This record gives sequence, C-alpha cells and structure tokens, in this order.
Amino acid sequence: MEALKTMDLNALLEKNRAFTSLGKVANYIPELDKANPNAFGVCIMDLEGNEYCAGECNEKFTIQSISKIVTLMLALLDNGKEYVFSKVGMEPSGDPFNSIRKLETSSRKKPYNPMINAGAIAVSSMIKGDDGRDKFNRLLDFFRKIMEDDSIDVNYKIYIGESETGNRNRSMGYFLKSEGIIKGEVEEALDVYFKQCSIEVTAKNIAKLGLFLARNGVTSTGEQVVPYKIIRIIKTLMFTCGMYDKSGEFAVKVGLPSKSGVGGGIVSVVPGKLGIGIYAPALDEKGNSVAGTKFLEDFAEMFDFRVL
Ligand code: DON
Repeated sequence: MEALKTMDLNALLEKNRAFTSLGKVANYIPELDKANPNAFGVCIMDLEGNEYCAGECNEKFTIQSISKIVTLMLALLDNGKEYVFSKVGMEPSGDPFNSIRKLETSSRKKPYNPMINAGAIAVSSMIKGDDGRDKFNRLLDFFRKIMEDDSIDVNYKIYIGESETGNRNRSMGYFLKSEGIIKGEVEEALDVYFKQCSIEVTAKNIAKLGLFLARNGVTSTGEQVVPYKIIRIIKTLMFTCGMYDKSGEFAVKVGLPSKSGVGGGIVSVVPGKLGIGIYAPALDEKGNSVAGTKFLEDFAEMFDFRVL
C-alpha cells in the first residue's frame, strides 16, 4: 500500500487524540476505570507485512466485546451456521449492547445478533469441550492462533471482577436458559464469556486480528484457519451490528467492518488490504472509543477505503 508509506500517522493520531476528552473510561467493570482516558494507540498492518504504528500501540488492555467475533468464528466452526443462527439472530437490535428489553418482547424468541451481550453469551455457550475449562482453553488457543501470539492470556483480576459483578449478564444467561437458547450450564457459559472478554491484548494484536479478516481467514504463514464463508458472515455482522446502536452512523461515516470493546479497542478491516487495531479507552455513550471512531472517519476519508 504505497499510499500508507507517505502518511503521517503520528500527526493523524495526535489530531484525533483531542477527542479523548469527550469520552469516559468504562467504570461498571472493576479495574477498567483505572485506564488512562487520554491514551491512544493505533496499528495498521497490510498484506505485504508492513506495520504502521503510532501512540500507545503496545499498551495492554482487555479485548472485551471484540472477543465476540472470535468466539463466533469458533462457534460456527463447531456447530455450523444453521445451528448457531437458530439460537441467535442476524439483525441489528437498535438497542444498547447490554439491553435485556427485546429478549422477552421480541417475537423472535432469541437475541437479535451475536454482537450484543445476550447474543454473545449464547454463542459462548456453544463452544465445544469436555467441561468449562476445556471449552475456554480451546477458545484461548484459537485466539492465539488467529493473532499469531502465544503469549496472549486472560487478565484474571479483571475476569474475577467482572464475574463477581456481572449480574446483568447473569440474568440474561438464565433467561436464555429458560428459553432453550442455552443448552448447558449457565455458569459455565458465563465463565467462558467473562474470560474471553478479559483476554489482554494490544492495538498490534487487534490489528493482526483485522489482518486475518482482511485475508479472509488466512494467517501470515498461509494457513486457512477459518473458511471464507464464515469470515464473510463475521465481516457482514461487524458492518451491520459491530458498533451497536451506532452501527448505522459508523457505516456511513467510516464504512469499514468494525467491532468495538469497552476496554477501548476497535478492530477495523479493509477487506483484501488492511487490518487496523485501535486502543483509546475514553468511550462515548454507546460504549465505542471516541477518538478511535474519529480517527477511522479521517482515515476512511483520506484513503477512500470504504467498502461501499
Ligand atoms: O459484558 C460486558 O458488558 C463487557 N464484558 C463487554 C461489553 C463491551 O465491550 C461492549 N462494547 N462496546
């Protein structure tokens, strides 16, 4: 990507760092409120092996909801799309990521999509394994394979904190069990979910995830880990649901398949070209990184990478 080589990434990052003052770090999960609200790191990786990084791109944070797209890949590999989407929908909900409202009012009788917490908890329950420990170990190995980093692991302090305070998610889990969406033990499904959200990464790890998607499921060593037909589903759901009840505006202004997390991460994909990893924990009211979103708006405008 010759155009990137002349880009002043530091200048573009510092211009958008100012927007960190418009957001707040998440405080409903213990420890997340200790993040530096002014932190901002970006890493962009292309298919030729070039990396363009700026700011706090090596600073560790928890992946949170970005994990949902990786777990969905494994659930689709484990169960097939017919089963997965018989339990979770494919539609944008128009509600906040932690909304319970439509779980009961909707005629669908299943979570609207795999990106909202209810859908993600259902998906986490579908990971195969002998027990909860085996299920999560399979999932963690899958994360390490896709991000090509065997050092990736759980931040157990954040995992324990979220598990102890995650009662809203717990209520969703038991409701999903009552509706037959979750077949196994609810606490086992929740434990997989809380651990996956607490996996610690950097913007570089997230960019590698984006690059994996840009390559349609192929690692840098040429291994097809996930079939294209699953990657296409993942990118489509990122585009339509990945930023929750801001996905529509994001699609217009950025126009790239993306997924946010309350730890301050955003992964974005320029299909066939780039993976982008962002860390900026000051969030807007929807739980999306303010400075990260603004950076992506500028970036998409500068290079016209929008997919539509
Ligand atoms: O379950 C939760 O609320 C968090 N572990 C994840 C939510 C999240 O990252 C929403 N994305 N912006």
